[in-house]
Amino acid sequence: MNGIFITIEGPDGAGKTSVIKELGPLLERELRIPLVLTREPGGIPIAEKIRQIILDPKNTEMDERTEALLYAAARRQHLVQKIIPAIESGKLILCDRFVDSSLAYQGAGRKIGMDAVASINQFAIEGVEPNLTLYLDVDSDTGLSRIKQGRSAQDLDRLDTESPVFHQRVRHAYLKIAEENQERIVMIDARESLETVIAYCLAAIKEHFPQVF
Ligand code: TMP
Repeated sequence: MNGIFITIEGPDGAGKTSVIKELGPLLERELRIPLVLTREPGGIPIAEKIRQIILDPKNTEMDERTEALLYAAARRQHLVQKIIPAIESGKLILCDRFVDSSLAYQGAGRKIGMDAVASINQFAIEGVEPNLTLYLDVDSDTGLSRIKQGRSAQDLDRLDTESPVFHQRVRHAYLKIAEENQERIVMIDARESLETVIAYCLAAIKEHFPQVF
């Protein structure tokens, strides 16, 4: 049996990391197939190294197309080394971010254009798409105030420190992507409590893939 590939998306401060931390063990308890938790950029050593380069706040001179290509390169390696083997061995993969992040952040946030970013990503993924995407929606004011809470300036990465208008463009792009891909993307209001957001995520996964519970 082929596995199931699920991605979680959202603007900075949507709470993906906290959701995944609690959703992982809940899924593990209930699933009848193995679970793989992973993230982008990263998930495997080569891609984690690329992540450090992309997110290093000291890399102020990075060109936006270089940034888009590095995300796509990290994605390619992660896909062939971890995601595809997990799909082929019948696992459920829950991946923190995938191509939609590049469309929203590089395509809209950096204004490269979603079509250009989609085309370099098609080269990287060769048609491998998520079966389901959980999009945690949060407005940029709420998202930005969350990421700044309890973190010192040196804990913020190169994208966290972008301007509020950058983050607004990212959020609007996500809403457009969600609107245009309703068969794949479930939108969840991430201003709700963590428990509620986790419950929605779990319910969406169970509804789409009842055969693995
Ligand atoms: P994270 O904070 O969810 O771990 O993601 C790291 C940052 O990288 C976040 O600000 C979003 C950004 N990002 C992109 O700009 N493009 C991408 O393709 C991915 C995967 C992440």
